Amino acid sequence: MFTLNDNFPLRDQGASNAVGLGEMPRHRWYFVKEGFSPKMVEQAVATDGVRSGELLLDPFSGSGTVPLAGTLAGLRAQAFEVNPFLHFLSATKLSRCSPSAFQQASRKVLRASEGQLVSPLEGYSTFTEGNRWGRWLFPTKVIRSFEAGWSVAACSVRETRSLLQLALLGAAMDCCNATRDGKCLRYHKNWMGHEATASQFRFRLEARANEIVADLDAAPISGKASKVKLGDARRLVASVAREKFRLCVTSPPYLNSFDYSDVYRPELFLAGFVDSNDSLMKIRLRTVRSHVQASWEMPINDEFGVLYRDCIATIRESTDILWSGKLPAMVQAYFEDMEKILRGLRKRALDEASLWLVVSTSAYGGIEIPVDLILAEIGQRSGWFLREVGVLRHLRSSSQHVKHVDDAERKSVPLRESVVIWDATRRRPTGKAKRTE
Ligand SMILES: C[S@@+](CC[C@H](N)C(=O)[O-])C[C@H]1O[C@@H](n2cnc3c(N)ncnc32)[C@H](O)[C@@H]1O
Repeated sequence: MFTLNDNFPLRDQGASNAVGLGEMPRHRWYFVKEGFSPKMVEQAVATDGVRSGELLLDPFSGSGTVPLAGTLAGLRAQAFEVNPFLHFLSATKLSRCSPSAFQQASRKVLRASEGQLVSPLEGYSTFTEGNRWGRWLFPTKVIRSFEAGWSVAACSVRETRSLLQLALLGAAMDCCNATRDGKCLRYHKNWMGHEATASQFRFRLEARANEIVADLDAAPISGKASKVKLGDARRLVASVAREKFRLCVTSPPYLNSFDYSDVYRPELFLAGFVDSNDSLMKIRLRTVRSHVQASWEMPINDEFGVLYRDCIATIRESTDILWSGKLPAMVQAYFEDMEKILRGLRKRALDEASLWLVVSTSAYGGIEIPVDLILAEIGQRSGWFLREVGVLRHLRSSSQHVKHVDDAERKSVPLRESVVIWDATRRRPTGKAKRTE
């Protein structure tokens, strides 16, 4: 039996999505659709009375919303992220560079980008014109301007380097022939006749650099350092040697077959974090097993509570209507990974700590997987005390997940995004709650 709070204070307030981040200092430096709102961090800090200087943890940093919001609120943040581009992004948003040092360095990069330097990506995969697929992500002039700017940014001092590189990556993606659309990159309508020019690239670079200067000035970061570490959270949270945390606010990958390493492929290559599909695959293999795009190790554990048992049994009986035969193993592997995370987090929690975890339910073949409630159960089995499951909003199920389903009712399984809140030690529940089995 669990507490599902339909009247959670952040319900339908945009707390679990990136809407609004485009206006916020530092958050706006790079738009990541999967990001969530600083409101979630603010609410957790206020509700749980977290004080300035206390440790905030986020094992799944993504675009760095949690470490940044926490740091700006005076907390010390520690975050982990397995994707090198998203790790770079999270860490760069915490920069303490002085606005004037950055402004000076950005002028040099802008001048350099007036030149043209051949890029190592020319002719590779679909990066530039002249490949066998007949479509390409970047106009050659844009990628050469980018490369000319990048070569100067790479030689600048550490304080300014990552900010310059972030502005260059953002400007390149502004001039890309495709845009991110859910799980893939979709080419713009009539993109071939409307490719960006090198001067449009420089215009975007300048605009982004100006935004960074303004935000370094308006939202300075001082005090004790927050840190984002590159690596696999399943391994990192288990390290008990680390300092214990007071608050953890996080959003793990959802159980929705979304592969972040694939979606950020252009940035990973442009920034030189990967140089081949093999190196990209190495990143995929370190991610939580929430997608089927890598041949990860098969899960072993299959005991995650009553809700899981019922749900996995139905999924295993329905393989003929699933879009991939690997889905039942993926579901099992996901909960195996999340159990590891929840156990590791409990070991690293102070007695007064709380854990706020934002997640969505899923549906495959029209079969609902109540991920939030299953995780609530796993958390309890891992030593956490469940406070509540707060409903954040309701969503529609992805059409990919129901394309082999005939039954009309099963085609439209509504999904729910919620925040699961646990305490490290027992306390009285709050809020108006509805009982659910
Ligand atoms: C839902 S997103 C987090 C979004 C984040 N709250 C934000 O505001 O941008 C989940 C993140 O977990 C990362 N991730 C996946 N597997 C991981 C692992 N094993 N260790 C650390 N991070 C991982 C993904 O790369 C992705 O960035």
